[in-house]
Amino acid sequence: MSSAATRQTARPSTASEAAAQLMHRAKVLALCTEKPGQILRTFLSPAMDEVHRAMRPWMEAAGMQVTIDRAGNLHGLYASKISNAAPRLLIGSHLDTVPNAGAYDGVLGVLMGLAMVEASAVQQYPFAIEVIGFSDEEGTRFGAPFLGSRAMVGELKGDLLHCLDSTGESVDEALRAFTANHPELEEPALSPQTAAYLEFHIEQGPVLESRNLSLGVVEALAGQSRCEVEFLGVAGHAGTNPMKLRRDALAGAAEWITQVETISRRFDDAVATVGQIAAEPSGVNVIPGVARCSLDVRHHDDDVRAALQRAILDEAQAIAQKRGLTFDSVQYHQQAAVRLDANLVAMIDRAAARAGYAAIRMTSGAGHDAMVLAPYVPSAMVFLRNPGGISHHPDESVREKDVAAAIHLGLCFLDEFAAQVRDKQHA
Ligand code: GLV
Ligand code: MN
Ligand code: MN
Repeated sequence: MSSAATRQTARPSTASEAAAQLMHRAKVLALCTEKPGQILRTFLSPAMDEVHRAMRPWMEAAGMQVTIDRAGNLHGLYASKISNAAPRLLIGSHLDTVPNAGAYDGVLGVLMGLAMVEASAVQQYPFAIEVIGFSDEEGTRFGAPFLGSRAMVGELKGDLLHCLDSTGESVDEALRAFTANHPELEEPALSPQTAAYLEFHIEQGPVLESRNLSLGVVEALAGQSRCEVEFLGVAGHAGTNPMKLRRDALAGAAEWITQVETISRRFDDAVATVGQIAAEPSGVNVIPGVARCSLDVRHHDDDVRAALQRAILDEAQAIAQKRGLTFDSVQYHQQAAVRLDANLVAMIDRAAARAGYAAIRMTSGAGHDAMVLAPYVPSAMVFLRNPGGISHHPDESVREKDVAAAIHLGLCFLDEFAAQVRDKQHA
């Protein structure tokens, strides 16, 4: 451990002080961006290096050994003072963002891990704490999400490596370039000592606010799939082709997009989104010959999600046929719905009760790194109220008092976790 890591520092003595510090840190990290005036941080970008440079001294001052792995994930390990063989609790979330993002999606969960190490009786716990900042959860750069957490569990392979960014660089090429610049880095890996993963996240929706609650305990996450869809028509002169004789790919896509909305409303609790659209050749006086769209479909029941996606793609086919277009789709991402670990969920319930907060059980419609970790290690999540439910937006916010509540709950959770580790050791 470095000398910085062994140095004792003043620690925030209360959850409120720790919350104020966390809010300040989130503002500092928001300045690390690829686009001045907006927050944008993508996988393996220079802005991500900046975030790592900002986080490192905070983590080292808290006694952590800081490393970055070959997939660009940031790790801060607070080793157990009791035993080298002690189990490890992983706490974190992601450090990448959507375009024009807010300051808390992902970042909050990483800073929560740091705050819990700083504010707790960490030296006395019979377990190590590893704070993790995943390098990609949003999929902003390559379309496919969870690249950081997938690398940690050995799932960053196969077709995923061939996804391209907007410059035509593949995931594989980006990883090779990153490693060539940093040959000293270790391969990403989930330590076999990891006993649990805990992620704090803003809710990204309005439920907690509508119930006047600070915190929610997540018990399940909706499954999700993403496709690229393409309508092919015939490009041509905007002035000379009568409306009846056109095969306009973008007009076909537009008709389909409104049907995506109509069809999804027939499936309870389902959501489907066309978030990207591009037309070619994209001239003001040219009929679009090609329209490409993204499609994101989510539901907590994987069979319902599959049925909805089928209905949406069948409709695209029907619209294309009616308009003399051709249609094709490629599914490049699929993540099954996930139930979180019942034992950890119950521990969070108890921690919330001890801290004096009523926390409801919730299902997440958003994707989170916990869904990638859950098949490999018991995982759990806590949601914080998100004013206005505004997220993936620069106005995204969280109240300092709710952050203090989360830290208070987190410290009670660490005590619960310590008691369970001790019980297992004495069993
Ligand atoms: C990530 O925030 C997602 O749910 O798409
Ligand atoms: Mn997130
Ligand atoms: Mn997000």
